Amino acid sequence: MAYQSAVHPDAEAATARAAAAEGVLAMYSTLSSLSMEAIAAASPDARRWFQLYLQDDPRLNWALVERAERAGYSAIVLTADVPILGVRDAQMQQGFAMEAQPPMGNGPEVRTPGRPAEFTANRLRHRPGSAHGWPVLDELRQRTELPIVVKGILTAEDARQAVSHGAKALVVSNHGGRQLDGAPATLDVLAEVVAAVGPETEVYLDGGVRRGPDVVMALALGARAVGIGRPVLWALAADGEAGVRRFIALLREELAVTLALVGRAKLTELDPQAVGARWTPLSPESSGP
Ligand SMILES: Cc1cc2nc3c(=O)[nH]c(=O)nc-3n(C[C@H](O)[C@H](O)[C@H](O)COP(=O)(O)O)c2cc1C
Repeated sequence: MAYQSAVHPDAEAATARAAAAEGVLAMYSTLSSLSMEAIAAASPDARRWFQLYLQDDPRLNWALVERAERAGYSAIVLTADVPILGVRDAQMQQGFAMEAQPPMGNGPEVRTPGRPAEFTANRLRHRPGSAHGWPVLDELRQRTELPIVVKGILTAEDARQAVSHGAKALVVSNHGGRQLDGAPATLDVLAEVVAAVGPETEVYLDGGVRRGPDVVMALALGARAVGIGRPVLWALAADGEAGVRRFIALLREELAVTLALVGRAKLTELDPQAVGARWTPLSPESSGP
């Protein structure tokens, strides 16, 4: 998640220390408040992935990727669901506004994928980056040796395309429901995506993962891992690094309890049956949950 200094002065450094201490893989945004190097310095031995928002100037994309490589990030997560910002009613209703120039840890030239005031559907080119297609993935693959993860996949067709253009893993995500009203719930499309790509492509899920049963449900339906957004930010706001550690510890405990209650000894033993017939994964033969 972007802009973590908006909720705590230690920003991503606190999140990074907490994730490192708890042994949790973390992804850091192109729009982080601290630089990716400062985040790396806060968690030198932790596994970290860098999330890329494509910038209008391609040179900046490749410069960010190169910096991520040098700073020890071990994958590039290309977010595909924010070519422009969605219409965010709740934020508008609450009068939420970021500072005009939120601190951009990765450099003042880095831009939030925006939506120009004069934007209309036939003027996508107002933001060249918003018109990218699959070839950008081919180019990214040539620019880096790091594995590429595509975040924001919701259909079997996109999943297959992403993999055929070099994605090593996918995040089934609707950006926490923050981009497109009517986008499907990630849990409802997870099985379809998993089935589309086969076992050699890892599929992760995010969106609405809050408690142990949410994690177990996603893993049982084929996710290899889950991503967690807002609860981390809330924990960071409440108590900085200690808050995030506490959140992770609570979730870990809930996960263990849930696993026991569905009768499995290990996460790798989870299968659809563990979570009951109602959650039989979607397939062309079934009408789903
Ligand atoms: C405040 C906020 C900032 C976010 N910033 C980014 C971002 O910079 N890059 C990105 O790929 N996703 C971003 N996301 C989306 C999250 O990575 C994630 O997909 C989503 O929050 C998951 O849903 P959850 O919050 O219900 O767990 C952001 C989400 C929130 C709430």
